[in-house]
Amino acid sequence: MIFQKCAVIGLGLIGGSFAAGIKAKALVGQVNAYTPREDHLRIAEHLEYIDQGYSDIQSCVKDADLVVIAVPVAAFESVFQALSELPENWLAPNVVVTDVGSVKGSVIALANQYIPDLQFVPGHPIAGSEKSGILAVNPSLYEKHMVVITESSSGKQSASSRDKVKQLWEGVGALVKTMPVEEHDRIFAVTSHLPHLLAFSLVDTLAGDPAQQAIFQFAAGGFRDFTRIAASDPVMWHDIFFANKENMLSAIDEFSEGLNALRGALETDNHEGIMGILTRSQAARQHFQVILEQRAFSSLEKQSKESSKDMSETHVQHFLLQPGGQCSGEITIPGDKSMSHRSIMFGALSEGTTNVKGFLEGEDALATLQAFRDMGVVIEGPKDGEVVIHGVGLHGLKQPKGEIYVGNSGTTIRLMTGLLGAQQFASRMVGDPTIMKRPMGRVANPVNSMGANITISDAGTPPVVIEPAQGPLKAIHYDMPVVSAQVKSAVLLAALYAEGTTTIKEIGPARDHTERMLKAFGVEVEVDGYNISLKGGQKLVATDFTVPADISSSAFFLVGASIAPNSNLLMKQVGMNPTRTGVIDILKLMGADITLENEQFVGGEPVADIRVKSAQLKGIQIPEELVPLAIDEFPAIFVAASCAEGETKLTGAEELRVKESDRIASMAAGLKTLGIDAEAQPDGIIIQGKGNGDLAAPIFGTGEIETFGDHRIAMSFSMAALRASGTILVKDTGHVATSFPGFKDLAQMTGLNVEITT
Ligand code: S3P
Repeated sequence: MIFQKCAVIGLGLIGGSFAAGIKAKALVGQVNAYTPREDHLRIAEHLEYIDQGYSDIQSCVKDADLVVIAVPVAAFESVFQALSELPENWLAPNVVVTDVGSVKGSVIALANQYIPDLQFVPGHPIAGSEKSGILAVNPSLYEKHMVVITESSSGKQSASSRDKVKQLWEGVGALVKTMPVEEHDRIFAVTSHLPHLLAFSLVDTLAGDPAQQAIFQFAAGGFRDFTRIAASDPVMWHDIFFANKENMLSAIDEFSEGLNALRGALETDNHEGIMGILTRSQAARQHFQVILEQRAFSSLEKQSKESSKDMSETHVQHFLLQPGGQCSGEITIPGDKSMSHRSIMFGALSEGTTNVKGFLEGEDALATLQAFRDMGVVIEGPKDGEVVIHGVGLHGLKQPKGEIYVGNSGTTIRLMTGLLGAQQFASRMVGDPTIMKRPMGRVANPVNSMGANITISDAGTPPVVIEPAQGPLKAIHYDMPVVSAQVKSAVLLAALYAEGTTTIKEIGPARDHTERMLKAFGVEVEVDGYNISLKGGQKLVATDFTVPADISSSAFFLVGASIAPNSNLLMKQVGMNPTRTGVIDILKLMGADITLENEQFVGGEPVADIRVKSAQLKGIQIPEELVPLAIDEFPAIFVAASCAEGETKLTGAEELRVKESDRIASMAAGLKTLGIDAEAQPDGIIIQGKGNGDLAAPIFGTGEIETFGDHRIAMSFSMAALRASGTILVKDTGHVATSFPGFKDLAQMTGLNVEITT
């Protein structure tokens, strides 16, 4: 029993449903209620919503250890006054007072004025309906709905009284969040109070129109959806608007500004301006939940489509793989991730309109797309891989209103550090819990040495906080300390804005999509072996191109088809950039049966169809010069090595330790779980392959695999099922959508036995 005697003051929808809920669940000893309406008291007693009804407050609260104020906001003062005038020792000694009002600042002020000595825990259930009154009461109204408990900045509120109120709400099925008062009132002014005000206002305006009859007669979906809430209780909303007046006034001003911008764009035939507002709005509407939850975009969307469950519930999804299966057929792998990111960036910085086909609609590339929308760039799509980017020129980006959320995308945050470091506005980048642990000094340091003002955490990780540079950046000569396309690209992006010619010396062949794509956008980039130079101030000219399929995503299928018996798989139009094809070279050295067909150039990049057939692989010492050319593909290669005859040894690959997870540790752990002798080394791994020439013999055991939030770990271990002796559960696979949306379906199509479980 959380409380002995609860007195609910007010028996409308909210108070009545609360009383009925706690009574139905027997969370308190006795439920009393007050309303001046005798008839309502009788109904509530008859329907057993309450134990005892009273038409005077004083009798109702006698000996109560919980008082719940559930009257309209305008009536709060009289209730507080009544409580302050009670005879001594009238309430239970440890009484807690709470309320359900949707504005908190003004209520707390009244509590401080009238009942400064009582425990007060302000509450706000986010539930309701257009119906009101006792007849609308529903004991399960709060199930799976959010309730906000505000920490009272003044007055009395102990942690234990807050906890008891929280328990009570949770007892009726609510999800409780706590929040500071000021934040609560501002947030609800914009998310709840303003939409209600607008709905009332629109209906009122149209009701005054001379063609009113016709308007209401023909008003279909849009009008009905938008104005549903204008049927709510006017007195209640009148009170709320006044109780939250200051926040309401600023919300109305902010909205009017937006509306005026839209009006201006329409009046001046500014199509791009209108598209900008509409596309930004659509994307924000789709993704705001994701950003709040700080998790994968598509896993959430999928869940909301697949289940009717509340979006505020979170589920982790896994891959459940049955052993055996095939990896055959003809498939098209989604677009290249590196190129998709860069297409948005360079399209945005160019002059003119860029049309992209084959864009990867994975979360990482979408995070880049959203970041540029946040900076005022109009981007249409993506729709079936097509994106139209209305470039704003090198100096046309606008300061984003809030922080830029990059999700799981290392490429977004690293490349954008170079770009944002050169801007004349401040910005801040954050991402999901994985990205918040990744090293950023490698990009912040060289860009700062050009004159940028970038700060990262003491641990060298995000958030990345950028203050405007003092004057234009200066060109540098940069000797790269690591082989990294992200570092090289961040410096090149900053170099576009720098005075003078920036030169970079690489120590190994990092992927060169930035250099190639800059050239396609008309920028002169000189490449001489490992030396790159770029003169600042050059303008980018919009261009159209097609993104080829991602060889990194193809790698899982290259391995799958190599290790599964009787496979014959064709992957169409995969990117064959020589800085990316290390996986093919390594697998071929291991004896894989891979052939290229239909080789051609598309948009400055070589592409080919890849055919791969089963083969008994053999263990090798992986040549170190191939490491940067296959840097993202090692998790898949380790699965291949496990199926090879003999030992495979990788060295010189310490970079794997700072990818989306520590890929040496993640893979060694998973391989061991499946019975493989895999020994992690500081800069690589040694794997004892179990292949023996019998392509049908199982190699892997059964088990549960941790993915450490890393998409490529999840997809690599999915392929292991093709040669497993039992079921493999690959845990937490939502992140697969960062680089390879539709992986599960494509894997199923080729013959893998994979299902999603939660
Ligand atoms: C990428 C570069 C590589 C790669 C990443 C994508 C890029 O990272 O691992 O998946 O698009 O520039 P590093 O630059 O850290 O090697």
